[in-house]
Amino acid sequence: MRENVRIEDLQGGVRLVTLDRPEKKNALTGAMYDAMRGALEAADASDAVGAVVFAGVPGAFSAGNDIADFVTRAEKAFSEAPSLRFIRQLARTRTPLVAAVDGVAVGIGTTLTLHCDLVYASPAARFRMPFVELGLVPEAASSYLLPRRVGRLKATELLLLSEMFGADQAEALGLVNAVMPSDMLVEHAVAQATRLAALPRGALAASRALIRGDQAQVDAALQAEAEAFDRQLRTPEAQERFQAFLARAKPASA
Ligand code: COA
Repeated sequence: MRENVRIEDLQGGVRLVTLDRPEKKNALTGAMYDAMRGALEAADASDAVGAVVFAGVPGAFSAGNDIADFVTRAEKAFSEAPSLRFIRQLARTRTPLVAAVDGVAVGIGTTLTLHCDLVYASPAARFRMPFVELGLVPEAASSYLLPRRVGRLKATELLLLSEMFGADQAEALGLVNAVMPSDMLVEHAVAQATRLAALPRGALAASRALIRGDQAQVDAALQAEAEAFDRQLRTPEAQERFQAFLARAKPASA
């Protein structure tokens, strides 16, 4: 079976994590979250890895959590959800993180980038966080991180009204470092990650922790969101939205 997450260790201490489920726009399954979490855990444990780059396929960084998985997950204990374990690891990873966003970046496809140290996007990038529209609440500490990045009013538009925003707007909001053509994107992200990986590791780790701020606040937001998310996931208003999306996804003959 083809792997939906490719993990390559490049020269210069960079680990490239490529999401590769193009037929579903890189919607994330439990197995994909587990592979991503494993890649981050192993990066932290390895002296050879100095930075991690997240990339997608042309036109799709990630369409977010697989919505079919939201339906089945409501039947299980949320604390064991691969998505939550990935998010917890993402927030505490000590290795610098770089994102290369081309195409759709929905839900965790956007919120993942809030944890990255550098974010690059192509003009085709389309960010969106439709949690509330889906009957859910923000995740990955986005309810804490986003207002601090873009201000509360803008964060409200993006998190409550689920407004889509493009690469230029993301750059203007300070959510993206630079916009560049798709064919240069991953190469540039890897080059920047290589620069990070070459820095003195102790100074880098200490500086990164200072820049990122209070880890305890991020952890607290993450936990509060996870509890609210779990409650919402099981509500009829959320399950109806998931079913509506899945019904839409069926062939016209169905
Ligand atoms: N979960 C499950 N399947 C998904 C998915 C998701 N999050 N996102 C896309 N897909 C599937 C579609 O159902 C479709 O499958 P099909 O070919 O079997 O019908 C396939 O991926 C391609 O998606 P499609 O909608 O045809 O592509 P598009 O370019 O027109 O639109 C998106 C792309 C991402 C804008 C759109 O698919 C979308 O809104 N997806 C849902 C995103 C979302 O709400 N994620 C959860 C956030 S919390």
